[in-house]
Amino acid sequence: MNSTPRPSFDAKRMLVFDDIQQASHHVADEIIQLVGAKPSAVLGLATGSTPIAVYEELIRRYRAGDVDFSKITTFNLDEYVGLSPEHPQSFAAFMRTHLFDAIDVPDHHTHIPAGVANDFLSTAELFEKKIQTSGGIDWQLLGIGDNGHIGFNEPGSPGESGTRLVELADETIEANSRFFDSPDDVPRQAITMGIATILKAKRLVLMAFGAAKAQAIADAVAGPVTPDCPASFLQRHPNATFIVDRAAAAALPTEA
Ligand code: PGA
Repeated sequence: MNSTPRPSFDAKRMLVFDDIQQASHHVADEIIQLVGAKPSAVLGLATGSTPIAVYEELIRRYRAGDVDFSKITTFNLDEYVGLSPEHPQSFAAFMRTHLFDAIDVPDHHTHIPAGVANDFLSTAELFEKKIQTSGGIDWQLLGIGDNGHIGFNEPGSPGESGTRLVELADETIEANSRFFDSPDDVPRQAITMGIATILKAKRLVLMAFGAAKAQAIADAVAGPVTPDCPASFLQRHPNATFIVDRAAAAALPTEA
């Protein structure tokens, strides 16, 4: 009998790195290769602490002349309701600060759901249409919430959901309050790509670092596919990879 522990999940979907820097370089390389092969690639982008080192590496490689972003199109996962693009805590501002202002992607090629709108239903429909008319997302970057959310698809989000207005979970408001003066300032609603929107991307890369993400990663990769853990829907995608550090991989099960 072979006593080597064997993972009870699809290990081909996991890449475990020693540190955030190595993982982020790996992801940046993948993006640069894609854009090299397809200069008009459509990229799905994410905000939060997790992708910052990827964006730093993309900027470094852009400045080194390794990549040209002038023909790409981008779609971000989500935005807070009530925050205009000028608001410093908006995801639009985050993207300008951490990526867009430092590279040559034209403004009109970048798309972030509108946080201020008269009619969120038609805003959401328009966002979905823009993704479709761009040819669909080639490559989508994702983070994961401690509660398993992707984008702002909180636990309970159906697999067939499209871009829509959502209520933020209490734990998300708490986690994101670090970016605001007080938890009371964190918006209670957001507009987010849905799970079905995300699953339509040709490739998905979900990144997670640190022990706080370990349970969410174990549930997403090795648990049942369920709205209780929105990231678990990635198990249904033929080309989704989870890129984690050792701490985030620590709760993954093994079987003798
Ligand atoms: P984080 O957020 O990258 O700041 O941890 C991830 C998320 O909530 O999706």
